[in-house]
Amino acid sequence: MEIKKGLEDVYVKETEITYIDGELGRLYYRGYSIYDLAEFSNFEETSYLILYGKLPNIYEYENFVKSLRESRGISDRVKEFLKSVKKNADPMDVLRTAVSIMGLEENTHTYNVSEQSIINLISKFPTIISYYIRLRRDLEPVEPDTSLSHAANFLYMVNGTKPSEEEYKAMDVAMILHIDHEMNASTFASLVVASTLSDIYSSIIAGISALKGPLHGGANYEALKMFKEIGYIENVEKYILNRLANKQRIMGFGHRVYKTYDPRARILKAYAKLLAEKKGGEIKRLYEIAEKVEEIGIKHLGPKGIYPNVDFYSSIVFYALGFEPEFFPTVFASARVTGWIAHILEYVKDNKIIRPKAYYKGEIGRKYIPIDSR
Ligand code: CMC
Repeated sequence: MEIKKGLEDVYVKETEITYIDGELGRLYYRGYSIYDLAEFSNFEETSYLILYGKLPNIYEYENFVKSLRESRGISDRVKEFLKSVKKNADPMDVLRTAVSIMGLEENTHTYNVSEQSIINLISKFPTIISYYIRLRRDLEPVEPDTSLSHAANFLYMVNGTKPSEEEYKAMDVAMILHIDHEMNASTFASLVVASTLSDIYSSIIAGISALKGPLHGGANYEALKMFKEIGYIENVEKYILNRLANKQRIMGFGHRVYKTYDPRARILKAYAKLLAEKKGGEIKRLYEIAEKVEEIGIKHLGPKGIYPNVDFYSSIVFYALGFEPEFFPTVFASARVTGWIAHILEYVKDNKIIRPKAYYKGEIGRKYIPIDSR
């Protein structure tokens, strides 16, 4: 009996959404290179591409953008919930619960995905996240601005000021790079739920729950914590060698599929560098530490095919853009929700309930003994 631990190398569905070439370090969404999309597209257009399989024409694009912009507002019930949450709650728990309230409000019992639910999920994640960020900072939440693009509005709601062109582009590219990544743990978790024909909100909540873990979307938070813990560039080598000697992982390094440099990390590194130069101070210091961690990490782990992944430099980008580290996984989720939805739609079109097997190695035929005789 061969058990594929962690379902490594197991294909669970055919897909036309995302292709990863883990040997060459290439990533394609619907056949388009991630490098082209990061340079020429934006979050809205790439989300359309991921969801519907083609680049939109101008009318499709404008309609999609309009629907997203008009649906950003969150209900009073969700706002009341966010106001009632303690300030040190895990932001992923808060996001998960807010999405659960959205599901309750829509009152969906089984799988029946409307266009409006798709739009609601994508458009409202940033509003929920920034509302809670502002409350934690003891600041008034900022209502969405429908004149701004998805990424620019997200930063506006977080910081209360409109982002510069560079900040907008860095955020937009970071969001594009997080939209989808084939059959990762959170996408699979959302498919397991969707395959039972449960409602879309329940599936998305499963995705958020899986993404939260430090081995998945929580790694960006862990990477920044690590850079801060290192403190100064002179400490990097000792810290990393010590960590490796103690069998601890370098957060933001390694990937199940990439055995080389993750192309998303390559793109994000350039934006992290740009923002570090613009902002200076702590951001520059952390960027320089990250660069040194990369160098030492690759020296020791590169021969095993372990290189920086998306979470390594996204941590610097998100921090430079004004997000507190605990919120990084929620930013990841706000982009990945598009990928979860696309995979759910693709899977359920030709649905089969996901029901694998566990190989039983326990005893059978044990005799039941009443509690007072045990
Ligand atoms: N630092 C040090 N050693 C590592 C690392 C790392 N970051 N990643 C893997 N290894 C080693 C691991 O110790 C093991 O060594 P050995 O064979 O000697 O026991 C070997 O590489 C294989 O590791 P694995 O855990 O069996 O590999 P996996 O494919 O199951 O895990 C991973 C992939 C991403 C969970 C893992 O590389 C990891 O824990 N990385 C750190 C956390 C992280 O950055 N996660 C984000 C992943 S990318 C974005 C996302 O999915 O959200």
